[in-house]
Amino acid sequence: MITFDQQTKTFHLQNKTTSYIIGIEEHNYLTHLYFGKKINHYSGGYRYPRTNRSFSPNPAHSKDRLFSLDTLPLEYPGFGHGDFREPAHLIKLTSGSRVNDFRYVSYEIQDGKPALEGLPATYVQDETDAMTLVLTLQDTISQLTLRLFYTIFAEASVITRSAQLVNDGSETVEINRLASQALDFGNQPLELIHLNGTWAKERQLTRETIHPGIKVIDSKRGSSSHQQNPFAAFVTPQTTEFQGEAYGFSLLYSGNHETIVQKDPFDQIRVIMGINSFNFGWQLQPKASFQTPEVVMVYSDQGLNAMSQTYHDLFNQHLIRGKYKHKERPTLINNWEATYFDFNEDKIMNIVSEAKALGVEMFVLDDGWFGGREDDFTSLGDWVETEGKLACGLENLAQQVHDQGMKFGLWFEPEMISEDSELFRAHPEWALGIPGRERSLSRSQYVLDFSRADVRENIYQQMTAIFDRVPLDYVKWDMNRNMTEVYSVLLGPEQQGEVAHRYILGLYEFLERLTTSYPEILFESCSGGGGRFDAGFLYYMPQTWTSDNTDAIARLKIQYGTSLVYPISSMGAHVSAIPNHQTGRETSLTIRGNVAMSGVFGYELDLTQLTSEEKAEIKEQVAFYKQHRQLLQFGDFYRLKSPYEGNDTAWMFVSKDQKEAMVFYFRVLADAAHPLVTLKLTGLAADAVYEINQEEFGGDELMNIGFYIDSELYGDYATQRFYLKRK
Ligand code: DGJ
Repeated sequence: MITFDQQTKTFHLQNKTTSYIIGIEEHNYLTHLYFGKKINHYSGGYRYPRTNRSFSPNPAHSKDRLFSLDTLPLEYPGFGHGDFREPAHLIKLTSGSRVNDFRYVSYEIQDGKPALEGLPATYVQDETDAMTLVLTLQDTISQLTLRLFYTIFAEASVITRSAQLVNDGSETVEINRLASQALDFGNQPLELIHLNGTWAKERQLTRETIHPGIKVIDSKRGSSSHQQNPFAAFVTPQTTEFQGEAYGFSLLYSGNHETIVQKDPFDQIRVIMGINSFNFGWQLQPKASFQTPEVVMVYSDQGLNAMSQTYHDLFNQHLIRGKYKHKERPTLINNWEATYFDFNEDKIMNIVSEAKALGVEMFVLDDGWFGGREDDFTSLGDWVETEGKLACGLENLAQQVHDQGMKFGLWFEPEMISEDSELFRAHPEWALGIPGRERSLSRSQYVLDFSRADVRENIYQQMTAIFDRVPLDYVKWDMNRNMTEVYSVLLGPEQQGEVAHRYILGLYEFLERLTTSYPEILFESCSGGGGRFDAGFLYYMPQTWTSDNTDAIARLKIQYGTSLVYPISSMGAHVSAIPNHQTGRETSLTIRGNVAMSGVFGYELDLTQLTSEEKAEIKEQVAFYKQHRQLLQFGDFYRLKSPYEGNDTAWMFVSKDQKEAMVFYFRVLADAAHPLVTLKLTGLAADAVYEINQEEFGGDELMNIGFYIDSELYGDYATQRFYLKRK
């Protein structure tokens, strides 16, 4: 899959569908030659034409005015030697200069894929699943060695990249930027797609023209954030869901990130992605090394949907780990929107009994069971159950839930500390904060300094004391604020630029320890909904709570955007009460059910308050979901109609063997004399016959002619669901 051609001095990574080509140019600079559809035979003829561009400098001692780093498409561009575009690295040397000049030295080709120490990364089950190219570059003056890692997967249009810097010198240097990857697209008309939003409005899909200049997608919040997901795609203007080229970039990182998109004066587009260089400074001691997080790049020549399916399959097979990787996820009832903090044993057990009767498989006790937590002003950090709140005690409650034949889950927010807590009174210095400055509050809480081993150990011991006593099947790991006054009192002034990243490394260490020590527990991550829905977290926890916004209509856009990158089996989705607590909207139970069962299905409302008709419908929904969840959680997902483009949305799931499929249609607002809607399906076996509601249709018929959505659909927030079974 990886070859080096001595003649043309090119590395060619290729599998059945994709090629990635790197050239070694004069002066041993590495140029980017190609990423895209598989090239069977590369002649070496495609080299960047030498052109004299005024004000574009040439290498030292060179009389050749045609060669300038300023215009070359480069693999890992630097700064200070003539390339005036954004660099992939900024490393401050003891001289005070940040100018480094990495030249290619050697390469190594390995079977499989090496793990990234302390960081999440895609992995292989078998050495034949992937191959890795390691390119070594050096700056002889600063004595820094740079290693660029490229892995190509055998069965998918995927290249992963990361970088490692080794200090072979005798002086400490400061890394201010070390991108995970850089990629220079030539002059081609590309558009940018990114996922942005805010709390309760996560991963809204934005598609925009790339103009000359720089566009940055980033987070400075200490987490991957509700605001900008660590993901970007580049598509041609003609690219649709099913046609055209798409290049996806997903960063496996849960902290501050940046994606810099620069269109230069010659219309070339550079993409830099990695840890955010803003306020970043890492002291790299002699002999030490620094490893960047990984970027997963996906190429599709069949539109965005194929790009998404490649991500879904890759993450399901080669990122998510543990017992639940391929396992059907349980339906759940969560008490948060049912009770908030106001619960007791009876209230909970009444909800549990109702849930049991309706076929729900797991109860999750959310916030409010510990310390003196009767509201969100208090007790984070004190992971001891509130005495008397649950008359029977937590352990007993879990037992009672188990006695009903249901699983039991519990909420934690381990990274946080309330000012009003025993932990804060004992260890105020354990919260992130700058000595002499007051800390900003958010949801009346502070962030624990997870860069500190002693802090992590304390929380680990507190949490696992509960884990060891209470029989837990599921844990929800929440995180309800972003970081301010980022400073760790254990580190010296010169290391404060490391804190945000050290926090994430500490968090990852904690998650690795916890999830591997309790392999039976299903973990779901959460950050005020989907504030940390990133591929880094999926390495530790197979599910994420998609959004605190459970309104079915708002969820159409949120789940649609999320599906661009993240597998359906990773998206928590619940039916909640009406009027919806976030939007006030009233929608039918049917549409709430259809939207939520397009994710990992659950309920989050007081089941004891429902009418018998509503309960009957829920019972039917739960049974239906259980019957079809293999298809809904692990089938191929196709987006058919975008909520961003009109009044109706449609998507469908097709089983891997194409023997069954499920189609969901949603119409937001009613319209008198609505134009008839034909839905053309996709992903079916063309020559097969499928049965829908006792009627038979050809696979090619459904995909080319389609079928009519009920012309009598009436009222706002209407929906239809179709189950297809191959004959
Ligand atoms: C934010 C989460 O997203 C909610 O689901 C809930 O767990 C609350 N936190 C509890 O405080």
